[in-house]
This record gives sequence, structure tokens and C-alpha cells, in this order.
Amino acid sequence: MEVSGRKEILKNYTGGLKNTGLSLGFVPTMGALHQGHLDLVRRARQECDRVVVSIFVNPLQFNNQEDLDRYPRQPEKDRLLLEEAGVDFLYSPGPEDFYTETARISLDFGPAGSALEGAMRPGHFSGVGVVLSRLFHLIQPDRAYFGAKDLQQVAVVRTLVRDLEFPVSIVRCPTRREESGLAMSSRNQRLSEEGKNIASLLYKALCLAAETGPEKPAESRDKALEFLSFRPEIKLEYLEWVCADTMEFHSAGKTLPKETALCLAAWVEGVRLIDNIILDRNGKTVN
Ligand code: PAJ
Repeated sequence: MEVSGRKEILKNYTGGLKNTGLSLGFVPTMGALHQGHLDLVRRARQECDRVVVSIFVNPLQFNNQEDLDRYPRQPEKDRLLLEEAGVDFLYSPGPEDFYTETARISLDFGPAGSALEGAMRPGHFSGVGVVLSRLFHLIQPDRAYFGAKDLQQVAVVRTLVRDLEFPVSIVRCPTRREESGLAMSSRNQRLSEEGKNIASLLYKALCLAAETGPEKPAESRDKALEFLSFRPEIKLEYLEWVCADTMEFHSAGKTLPKETALCLAAWVEGVRLIDNIILDRNGKTVN
């Protein structure tokens, strides 16, 4: 595996692939890798001839300096995991290597980016859009892999790619969970064992609501809320049914879209967690 934080070396590598006919898969990450990230890497490995992974804790997408400072970093362990997973190139710049000056552009994704995470974390998706635009330009991948855990991010990225005509296919991969149901996340490292147990109730609440389903959005949501109300350690930020594609709110009486998702954000032990469950029109859970 080639490793570099330098743009010129990355461009040299990806540029060299251009006329070879080899396909290139790209997995953008912020490091502190877990099996969820590695699922994306494995999928890219299966579907593409060459795989590039980036590790960059992107300051532009953090609207809270403390969250940025406390974001877990484990560069050596990450490098070994990616080497083992058969990655061809790891691009891991520092902020000074990547941004020559603070980005001045900001991006607005309309409905896809304004609700839920967009409402709670102003500027977040703009920062995600800017960093991914840069990375797509530098790397020019054929396919880029994203986790369903950050479902709204997938909607935002699809909007970015469509509106700016990036020649890349976006692949959504299933959320990888602990046995308890807790969605894997780099932020879980900051939870105690007890905190992890409590946090696993979030997925149980989503499953409970999914049994009633999006045909009765208010009723199913209430079931989850009631279930969580017994756990004062969980501070729920939002819990909403949305169309998984557009992220527009889904309410009673609306035609069911192809996929509906119940999305939540909650705080446990001072750590902000997000999760969702996606259902098709038949009420079947989609990965
Ligand atoms: P990060 O949080 O490191 O996540 C990198 C990718 O891994 C994202 O596509 C995310 O959805 C996926 N992922 C995280 N946890 C997952 C899980 N449990 N199962 C499956 N996939 C999972 O998301 C970002 O970084 C950044 O916003 C980034 C896209 C890199 C832009 O800076």
C-alpha cells in the first residue's frame, strides 16, 4: 500500500491509472477505523481494480471545536487495517497539506441537507460537500462508497454528484452493527461499557417503531419515544420518518416512497450518536 499526505503524489497515482482501463474505487473516511469502514473498503475491493482510501479529519464539517479536538485519531492502527484489507493507496493529509487556505465556498443542498443533521449542525454538509468535491477532483474515482448509517450524507452526496456532474457512482453500503445492535461509530470509543449498553437501545427503539411502520408515522414514532422515555440517560435530539432518497419528512397521508427511513440523533454520556432504519414499501428492512 502506498501512503502519502501529498496531493501531487496522489494525483500522480490516480492520473497514472487513467488510461489503463482499470477501475478505481474510493472510500473517504475520517479514520479511527472500525468494521463499518472496512465493509466499505471490502466492497470497493470486490468491485474495483484499485482502491484509494482517504483519512482526513475535515475541520470544515465540524461546527463544534471541542468535537473536532476530541475526534479519535489512531493513524498507525488505521494504516495496518487498510494494508491488511488490500488497499492500494492511502491518502492521509494534514489540514495544512489539504487546504492551502481556508475554503471560502459554501454549499447548500436544499431539502436533502436542511432537515435533521443539517438543522442541528449548521455548515456541516457544506463542509462535507467541499471536502468531497476536492477529493473527487483529485482522485477521479469510478465509484465511491458510503455507509447507510449516515443516510442524509448519502442523499447530500448524491445531490452533489448529480448537480455538479461528477462522473462517479455512489454506492450505499449497509450499516454495520455490534451484536447488541449498536451502530458502529468512531465516536463509540468515547462511551463506557454501560454507555454502549444504553446506546444499543437506540436501535431497539428504531426496530420497535419499524414494526408499526411508516404507514402510521406518528403512532410508530410514539412507540419508540415511549420506549426511550424510560431511559433518562438518553437525550434524544430528533426522531423523524423521512423519504430515504430526498430526506423530506414523511407524514400520514403521503404516498409511501420506495424507501422510508426513521432517523435519530441522541446524546449518551456526552457523545452524539446517529442511527436509522430503512424500510421498503412492504415494510421490509432494507440494508
Ligand atoms: P466517517 O465518519 O469516518 O465515515 C466514513 C464512511 O464510513 C461514511 O460513508 C460512513 O457512513 C461510513 N460508516 C461509518 N460507520 C458505519 C457503519 N457502522 N456501517 C457502515 N458504514 C459506516 O462520514 C465521514 O467520515 C465524513 O463525513 C466523510 C465522508 C469522510 C467526509 O469528510
